[in-house]
Amino acid sequence: MLRGKDLLSIHELSVDEVEEILNFAAELKSMYRSKFTPDFLKGKTLGMIFEKSSTRTRVSFEVGMYQLGGSALFLSNRDLQLGRGEPIKDTARVLSRYLDGIMIRTFGHDRLVEFAKYAKIPIINGLSDLLHPCQVLTDLVTIREHKGKNLQNLKMAYVGDGNNMANSYLYGAAKVGMALTVATPTNYKPNAEVFENAVEDAEETGAELSWTEDPVAAVKDADIIATDTWASMGQESEHDERKKIFMPYQVNSELLSHANKNAIVMHCLPAYRGEEITDEVFENNAEIIFDEAENRLHTQKAIMALTMMD
Ligand code: CP
Ligand code: NVA
Repeated sequence: MLRGKDLLSIHELSVDEVEEILNFAAELKSMYRSKFTPDFLKGKTLGMIFEKSSTRTRVSFEVGMYQLGGSALFLSNRDLQLGRGEPIKDTARVLSRYLDGIMIRTFGHDRLVEFAKYAKIPIINGLSDLLHPCQVLTDLVTIREHKGKNLQNLKMAYVGDGNNMANSYLYGAAKVGMALTVATPTNYKPNAEVFENAVEDAEETGAELSWTEDPVAAVKDADIIATDTWASMGQESEHDERKKIFMPYQVNSELLSHANKNAIVMHCLPAYRGEEITDEVFENNAEIIFDEAENRLHTQKAIMALTMMD
């Protein structure tokens, strides 16, 4: 179903395609655990263009590609002619002649869309200012491991900045029918167009999506609570101002006392203890948080195999 397609946004995937990715990721993880690594991408090469820093995305895509029998090329914006102003549309057409797929981490989402328009090979979003789909698909895989496969019975709360993670959770929850409340300060809401699209997508699955300014109301009865940094990459200069504004949104034990007793806390990492999450809450949930990090590998292997396989 996904063969030859791009993965720029969960919104562009069908409900069945999302299900296929989640199931295949779990299957690849159990194969990996039993030391079976099928070489679905033998002889193929993935290009990885990074215009921002990364630990997890870079390592998990690269290792994932090796495990599938292929190879991966790390392409830093500092070294590419792209970084000196070569047009995206030329870079996309050139790289399409050498590679079998490209993962891109960039700033404006429009850069990814333009790249995908001119490329003749699958383009995977490794994070843009707007969306982080590979992370949220991974989080859904991880939630299914910890809370069971039926996500329609679960309630999730995202607390913090209405950033690329918040936007992608909205798209992800809409496709799997999971209730999601996003709590952010009024001036830091998720992207309005994303919210609208997600609510429309949710008509198919019955997912209830909402926004509130009140973090306590958001976590009430929540089974899963997620947060993310208050100052995303590119917003470093706003860090101090944001810290003041977002303090009431910190995921701490007081906030968790309003959630379900067995609620789990997720964080895509890197985490800033004492800011969006306390050290105590982080460490109490370390197992799931590092499962989440590990599952990037299995979920992206599923995405690469499904989009890039012959
Ligand atoms: N969560 C995540 O995408 O991590 P990196 O920025 O380290 O890739
Ligand atoms: N919102 C964060 C996610 C990092 C993985 C950022 O964009 O920096």
